[in-house]
Amino acid sequence: MTKKIAVLPGDGIGSEIIEQAVRVLRTVAPSLEINEAPVGGTAYDLHGHPLPPSTLKLAQESNAILFGAVGDWKYDKLPREHRPEQAILGLRKALGLFANLRPAVLYPELANASSLKPEIVSGLDILILRELTGDIYFGTPRGIRTASDGPYAGSKEGFDTMRYAEPEIRRIAHIGFQSAQKRQGKLCSVDKANVLETSQLWRDIVIDVSKEYPDVALSHMYVDNAAMQLVRAPREFDVIVTGNLFGDILSDEAAMLTGSIGMLPSASLNASGQGLYEPSHGSAPDIAGKGIANPLATILSAAMMLRYSLDSASLADKIEQAVQKVLQQGYRTADIYEPGTTKVGTAAMGDAVLKALG
Ligand code: IPM
Ligand code: MN
Repeated sequence: MTKKIAVLPGDGIGSEIIEQAVRVLRTVAPSLEINEAPVGGTAYDLHGHPLPPSTLKLAQESNAILFGAVGDWKYDKLPREHRPEQAILGLRKALGLFANLRPAVLYPELANASSLKPEIVSGLDILILRELTGDIYFGTPRGIRTASDGPYAGSKEGFDTMRYAEPEIRRIAHIGFQSAQKRQGKLCSVDKANVLETSQLWRDIVIDVSKEYPDVALSHMYVDNAAMQLVRAPREFDVIVTGNLFGDILSDEAAMLTGSIGMLPSASLNASGQGLYEPSHGSAPDIAGKGIANPLATILSAAMMLRYSLDSASLADKIEQAVQKVLQQGYRTADIYEPGTTKVGTAAMGDAVLKALG
């Protein structure tokens, strides 16, 4: 059966980086059915909504989604439900994409790009597994109201609710242990169990699930300490599993350890293997339209898509090897450029990957 993918370029540099990833996909997997739809601010301009029903329907009917990026300052004044970010949050929720895999890998060729000393980061290869459909991101009640009690009664107050149900914790914990089994066998669960009830339950459930994975070494860390350990000794980590909010923050931190957020792909999976694949970076409106954005994170996201949702691990390997090769050949976009290498734009980087694919 022909596999269907939805391509949602979005805003800012989204269309430029997606274009290169689609070229790569058409080359390695010519039988894929590829359909494109607007999302984010671009969709708001066209249809009055960042995630129009037609785009959501296409996503739901596809085996996988290749997502560019959303967001632009010009939408900052819109009411929250119309802002571009609602598109990605809406897709995560509607498709049940609860497991977010964010690898942070330091390519040896880019060792100088990290802000940490080479002896601390060389060889870094960690996986942040972020729960993506629960926590304070989606918990209700939430809102802005007039406080009815306490010292600020009568003042306006904003409120959000952090909550996790046992099944939500259980299923992400299983993915954490299974990911660790395929890697170095170490899982670190990050929470704030010294303060939060949500985290206390999180820790209890993770410990319970660990009984099914005696081959995985489980540790626990408070999120503040984890943020510190990530810059002190990041290679101590293998897989980190954590909730939505802590994972949002720690994955940005981990990405920067590699010095090149333009290199990092991500996958968001649901229980039936359907997935959304996107670069870890944002829409970078400041460089949009200039043809200088790094397309490699998106190309590597396409590789993750082949591996996790399209059952084509060997094609994924081919793409990843091609990316490695262009780095060895010295091709660099501006974000990873250093003297002595060859500076190229978005399309030329795509050309180089296609050439390396042979
Ligand atoms: C991310 C982003 C999103 C998030 C925003 C755009 C809603 O920061 O994917 O990490 O907070 O999850
Ligand atoms: Mn984020």
